[in-house]
Amino acid sequence: MPSVDPPTAGPPTIDPPLALLAELTHRCPLACPYCSNPIELERASSELHGEDWRRVLREAAALGVLQVHFSGGEPMVRRELATLIAEAASHGLYSNLITSGALGGEREIAAFAEAGLRHVQLSLQDHEAANADRIAGLAGAFERKMKFAAAVRAAGLPLTLNMVVHRQNLDGIAEMIDLAQSLGARRVEIAHVQYYAWALENRAALLPTRAQLDEATRIVEAARERLKGVLAIDYVVPDYYGVRPKSCMNGWGRQFLNVMPSGTVVPCHAAQTIPGIDFPSVREASLADIWYRSDAFNRFRGTGWMPDPCRDCDRREIDWGGCRCQALALTGDAARTDPVCALSPEHGVIEAALTEAAAAPAPFIYRRYR
Ligand code: SF4
Ligand code: FES
Repeated sequence: MPSVDPPTAGPPTIDPPLALLAELTHRCPLACPYCSNPIELERASSELHGEDWRRVLREAAALGVLQVHFSGGEPMVRRELATLIAEAASHGLYSNLITSGALGGEREIAAFAEAGLRHVQLSLQDHEAANADRIAGLAGAFERKMKFAAAVRAAGLPLTLNMVVHRQNLDGIAEMIDLAQSLGARRVEIAHVQYYAWALENRAALLPTRAQLDEATRIVEAARERLKGVLAIDYVVPDYYGVRPKSCMNGWGRQFLNVMPSGTVVPCHAAQTIPGIDFPSVREASLADIWYRSDAFNRFRGTGWMPDPCRDCDRREIDWGGCRCQALALTGDAARTDPVCALSPEHGVIEAALTEAAAAPAPFIYRRYR
């Protein structure tokens, strides 16, 4: 397919997307209470077919996308995964598999490597089996993950461990880093839970205390120093404890697009929670049209939409006003400044959540696919 030129009319500064998140399905054997999938999970019957996904991959490459992340739910639920990896590779796309590691093993991983997979990100809930399985909501999941990690290494693929940390596993962070080393990972991504979707439902169970956070940060910084050149450690702190927000998705519609299982295309995981935006589908429009011309991708692009105090702030092209979905969830209006920012008039909602975090944690509400 020939490459797609940006339109000559319209917003002048839109670069092609860097990466496509291909959410092949919302089906998943795990039930993590911080899942970034929407509360209303999409049904298997509404999922795109393999041939639709192959077209999406072709269009993505023509649009200028460089990386495709196969994700879900659990992407290995989809039996066409190896053929989709091969399709991505045939268009020069770098493909990454983001998986729970709860399905499949050596045979599947070898087939993916053969098809052109370049990298695997495996989620890990804790270093200790009982708590890991409790958080994942699946007995035996930890054991399967250990075998899966070994299969990835046996296939010669680079392995990153994704550790989502929160109040109920943060005290084991040193042991989690040790485990990553013993599994032969090259990189760990230690990311504090971000509070959208299922995680927002479970915030009172997941938000760490300040003391926990400070100790974990100290351990991570020491490990980074100690393991320089051996294990790369990325660390994403919880924005509730910051004074300025994160640059969510590096800005709305700037670098990323997510194609959901049904084909709906969104700029971020939680975008569909924002009312009044008609999110387009790959069933009806090309990725290029969606990226350059859709209202959904242009709605919060750049700085023109910004309210005070973002409008005149010297960080407006650094954090892009923070997260639109968090602004909606916590203020009721996606066009407000992210209340994580201490300059936001609504910053008090964050302080109230942190006060709540000092109390005993609530039980989990698990994400179940029914
Ligand atoms: Fe970022 Fe807006 Fe806060 Fe400035 S006022 S730091 S642009 S969120
Ligand atoms: Fe939607 Fe941050 S998750 S903009």
